[in-house]
Amino acid sequence: QPNSGSPSETHIDDLVSKLPVREGMVLYKSYWLWPQTAKRVMLLQDMFKARDDDVILATNPKCGTTWLKALAFTITTRSSYDLHNHPLLTLHPQEVVPFLEIPANEDLTYVETLASPRLLATHVPMSLLPESIANHGCVRIVYICREPKDAFVSLWHFWNRVHGGRGADLDLDTAFNRFCEGALPYGPFWNHCLEYWKESIARPDRVLFLKYEDMMSDPVGCVKKLALFLGVPFTDREEEGGVVEQVVRLCSFEMLSGLEANKTGNLKVRARPNVVYEKAAFFRRGKVGDWVNHMSEEMGTKLDSIMEEKLKGSGLVL
Ligand code: A3P
Repeated sequence: QPNSGSPSETHIDDLVSKLPVREGMVLYKSYWLWPQTAKRVMLLQDMFKARDDDVILATNPKCGTTWLKALAFTITTRSSYDLHNHPLLTLHPQEVVPFLEIPANEDLTYVETLASPRLLATHVPMSLLPESIANHGCVRIVYICREPKDAFVSLWHFWNRVHGGRGADLDLDTAFNRFCEGALPYGPFWNHCLEYWKESIARPDRVLFLKYEDMMSDPVGCVKKLALFLGVPFTDREEEGGVVEQVVRLCSFEMLSGLEANKTGNLKVRARPNVVYEKAAFFRRGKVGDWVNHMSEEMGTKLDSIMEEKLKGSGLVL
């Protein structure tokens, strides 16, 4: 429940109901969100208390959240678990790192019950994170970004999956146009990336900005960087013993997508009513450049030029 003196849930419902609406989403401080998400963002703003050793894994949807969850969990808990008898062999990465704004039940206070150090994931943009995180000098944030055409294609497939094969009510062209307008959940995509990018430049000790493509081309280098940032660098002995490569292998698409635990069943999360998340839906192809198999060249060029324009002058190239 919100702290005393804070806006009540009814008041928040009232605020959400007054926001501009488009295709079932609401526009909250220049981001499109599902109304439930907007409500949770407001509630979290009020109730979330950051801790010194919190680590937040932030992503735009379909940019590598599952992979980052697996890696960060494995890296930070490696002194407790044998990599050959590991929780990730029987639990989905989405089950070992909870989302801040997507609770397993309606009670958002469950994050307070988690033991420190907490590893939490979020799709919430930097500017909408609880102030407690923004103002807390010690909280570390890892952001993973992905080439937008691949991210869009991944998102479109995921929607079709989560809607139980009924189709997401959106053909590829319509979904693409909305993506280009920034009007998809947690969008605009570019603003989401830019906010975390700028913070990673201003506060590199606080925000680590990773790219899916770099992690694909140099997983060992990226995993070492991630461990260093998280305050648990690999020792010389671990490196010589091949531990980094073992972590990379355990968290690889090939390994995780082949595990029985990730092939069947649904996740117990309540993102939106009537939407079921199949565990297998989080593993599709895991490739760089798959957009060419789904989008036309014209669509590719259009999105490239939008991104170029939006990211101009920021130093960020996607
Ligand atoms: P594709 O749909 O392009 O295959 P998220 O985890 O943010 O929901 O992103 C899902 C995307 O990451 C999907 O992309 C999925 O296949 C890919 N993915 C999942 N696990 C991965 C892993 N261990 N390594 C690389 N990619 C992974």
